[in-house]
Amino acid sequence: MSVNQYIKPWTTEVKDGHLVIGGCDVVELVKKYGSPLYVIDEKTLRTVCKEYIEAFTEYPNVSILYASKALATSAIFKIVTQEGLGLDVVSGGEIYTAYKAGIDMSKLMFNGNNKQDWELESALDVGVGRISVDNFHDIELLGKITEQNNKTADILLRITPGIDCHTHEYIQTGHLDSKFGFDLTQVDDAVKLIKTTYPKINIKGLHAHIGSQIFDTAGYVDEAKILVKELARINKEYGLTLSELNLGGGLGVKYVETDTPPDIKHVANTVIKTLLAEFKEHNLSDIELYIEPGRSVISTSGVTLYTAGASKQVPHGTKYISVDGGMADNPRPAMYQAEYTCDVANKMDITEKETVTIAGRYCESGDILIKEISLPPIVSGDILCIYNTGAYNYSMASNYNRVQKIGMVLVNNSQSDIIVYRETLEDLISHDNIPDRLK
Ligand SMILES: Cc1ncc(COP(=O)(O)O)c(C=O)c1O
Repeated sequence: MSVNQYIKPWTTEVKDGHLVIGGCDVVELVKKYGSPLYVIDEKTLRTVCKEYIEAFTEYPNVSILYASKALATSAIFKIVTQEGLGLDVVSGGEIYTAYKAGIDMSKLMFNGNNKQDWELESALDVGVGRISVDNFHDIELLGKITEQNNKTADILLRITPGIDCHTHEYIQTGHLDSKFGFDLTQVDDAVKLIKTTYPKINIKGLHAHIGSQIFDTAGYVDEAKILVKELARINKEYGLTLSELNLGGGLGVKYVETDTPPDIKHVANTVIKTLLAEFKEHNLSDIELYIEPGRSVISTSGVTLYTAGASKQVPHGTKYISVDGGMADNPRPAMYQAEYTCDVANKMDITEKETVTIAGRYCESGDILIKEISLPPIVSGDILCIYNTGAYNYSMASNYNRVQKIGMVLVNNSQSDIIVYRETLEDLISHDNIPDRLK
């Protein structure tokens, strides 16, 4: 089994009735760093990075790019790149974070459907390795910037392969009616435009991403077939030698027991087998492969710790336990009806159970973190640990209700270190301005 098939971080254990992660009693972590708190288990993160590298070793020329949109912080970038991964980035902010963390910029791939001038300029300035061009506007902008700055850009063309993968509609991206990428009928015009007008743009290959939280490997097989066929066709028709393929990310994780994500090695084997057969059929060789997993790299390493506060028993109905965080630190349940699993970290030995709903503290009825879960009876002050919150939690966090964003610690071998400081009240007003006329 690979890391993405576990709900809890690999180092999770119970000691004296308390939940322990990375050798640290999480109840003590809350005492030390406050609540709520994101916790990242370094061992789990390093293990999954190694699993990805290992799973693709049979493919001769592969780059695994961590999709940093899942969780982009300087320390996380350090860890994943130390393990040999590159980075998929989608903003000037992610590029800047990587640059300041001292990451090798040639290992970055810059994606996005509406890149800004300054973002493309800074990508070229700092030497970002590849730019995935998403649409005609992107081509024109990049073409103009390469000419003005006398720089060349190595790009992939992002295409929409027309695959409906079975996941939430907001996280499907490869189906035809998607805002991302060139439709297959637009690819020729994109190639022609670049060839005729923008000599400083080098098309190196093709890119696609079919969606997120994917359990069915069949989508990757279809995607690989479409991309290889398209690459071979473009090479033949335009006398080009495109030699790079980026299959994107999307592999799922196990949030709850009913989730059945496939093993990383199994996905890798299936993809490699398909690619090699397709290359043979289309007479292609030496194709460099990229994959961009985000969620499956970081999700399982992360948990969020909350402190229980108010509770409400609706007569003959739901029992709500409110915690000190919610949709501002984890918007996924409200956005995608995402499900999670939870333990009461200071009551791990208690066998008595009751069914409760874990509610957030934010002023929205939809701010429910977990609907109906069976847990030991919870009283105010108990510490709740929600698992698998490493991906798309901190990265989608907000200051809704003017609440400070929460901090993040890294745990390993019984040591804990802050990797993101908790925001202060001063941080909250630091960007406010009161115009003179209001003073
Ligand atoms: C282009 C691209 N690559 C990679 C990813 C990462 O997907 P996941 O986190 O599901 O692996 C995304 C996510 O939206 C994406 O848009």
